[in-house]
Amino acid sequence: MFTKKNLTLAATVAALGLSNSAFAEKFEFSSSSTKAGAVVVFQAGDQASPDLSRLDKQSQSQISNALKAADFSGKSKQMVEILAPVGMDAKRLIVVGLGDDAKLNAGDVNLVGADISAKLKSSKVENVQVFTQGISDSVSNANFAAELAHGINLRAYKYDKYLSKKRPAEKNYHVVVSQPAKAESRYESLEAIEQGVFLARDLTTEVPTEMTPVDFAKAAKELKKLGVKVKILKPKQIKKMGMGALYAVGKGSSEGSRLVVAHWKGSDDAPIALVGKGITFDSGGYNVKTGSSIANMKSDMAGAAAVLGTVKAMALQKAPVNVVAVMGMAANMVSENSVAPGDIVMTAEGKSVEILNTDAEGRLVLSDSLWYARKNFEPKVMVDVATLTGSKIRAVGNRYIGLFSNDEELVTQLTASGDIVGEKLWRLPLAYGDMLKSPVADLRNIGKGGPGATTAAMFLKEFTGDTRWAHLDIAGNALTASDKGVTQAGGTGHGVRLLSHWILNTQVK
Ligand code: BES
Ligand code: ZN
Ligand code: ZN
Repeated sequence: MFTKKNLTLAATVAALGLSNSAFAEKFEFSSSSTKAGAVVVFQAGDQASPDLSRLDKQSQSQISNALKAADFSGKSKQMVEILAPVGMDAKRLIVVGLGDDAKLNAGDVNLVGADISAKLKSSKVENVQVFTQGISDSVSNANFAAELAHGINLRAYKYDKYLSKKRPAEKNYHVVVSQPAKAESRYESLEAIEQGVFLARDLTTEVPTEMTPVDFAKAAKELKKLGVKVKILKPKQIKKMGMGALYAVGKGSSEGSRLVVAHWKGSDDAPIALVGKGITFDSGGYNVKTGSSIANMKSDMAGAAAVLGTVKAMALQKAPVNVVAVMGMAANMVSENSVAPGDIVMTAEGKSVEILNTDAEGRLVLSDSLWYARKNFEPKVMVDVATLTGSKIRAVGNRYIGLFSNDEELVTQLTASGDIVGEKLWRLPLAYGDMLKSPVADLRNIGKGGPGATTAAMFLKEFTGDTRWAHLDIAGNALTASDKGVTQAGGTGHGVRLLSHWILNTQVK
């Protein structure tokens, strides 16, 4: 059964009509079993066989023969599906290997859930029963059950707005667990995080002409229904406040730039500021992008989507935290009004910037956004999230987020959260600041070859004052072309789970 609290979250999302992301598989955690079309059981590496004690002798021997024939030994990532198992009501039995379950962290369990969801995707089965008793991750049996549900749901999400073949109907999962109330309360927080991830995915996957700075601002305003304070600055105000860099990037597009602020004040602590790059389409500007990479540039607002998704995740669960997201939004387009290479703009920080390459626009919108966050909120710590550089992809690829920081404790905390949720970080150096020297302005907006992700980060550092700060370069992480892990093809929502885990589980001083 759903607890009252769970109903509240599901009902809140549905009643408020909070966009496409209201989709969710249905989970109930229970200590007793039920009937279902599909049954999932696990075998940890130290078990000789899955727990089939509820079945009669004949079924047990059929199943163990099938497992033998498939060379199943309970190793991690092994999965065997047995159709029409003898002596069971279910149409299919799925046996999943876990390896050493005591070593599984949350992200590992999410991936197991994702594999189960992928396996069941094409089947018409509506009800699934999952037996988790006796299985614990590195935390507990209840945690295993909740993280499993989280992984199943993360993988089941699909952005199907433009597909005539819609995603399959939601399935009902009956999860048998020894402490159902504990599993349920743990899942409640994860469910809110899922909704944050789904929002980030919706925004990232939406096509560029339907997700402009104004559209994004509209999506942010929806969070007002959850008690989030939302403020939008238009180009005129942006210019008047001196944010010349943010202003410049948007001036080649008809809508111009927006600064979007979304504040969840669930405590009186000094705020944590999350700053997001929100380029709704990056054509490169006059340094126009050539080649196929331009087709992915609708996702250049994934940093803004991730920080907004995190705020939604905190608001939905009424988390006792003070988090503000500041998002610098613009479409980087080519027109007679666009900024031209060689132009010099003035940032609100008071540093002038020579724009030598209009394709290095992310750092420009972030410079004024970082300033705004510091000036208006005096945060105890700032984390920016941005699809900032191709150089980051060349350095660490798309299985890591590039991490830059001026604070060792922050590095340790964020890296630990990333390992736990499976959004891993790799630290890169803050150096080569001399490469940003310009003879005509305080800074140039590009480095000089070589360490492009680092010089981009060094540029941002100029706008962080003495605030503790980390920069997450998520270029390559934001969009996936194929179904993989906890994500189907499309926007990944990368950053939401990482930031949510960090904010909820770490003492951020
Ligand atoms: N949005 C891109 C970075 C990017 C590249 C994100 C590939 C995701 C996938 C960014 O604005 C950009 O174009 N950066 C340039 C900077 C260069 C001109 C100094 C780059 O990395 O090539
Ligand atoms: Zn660019
Ligand atoms: Zn960009």
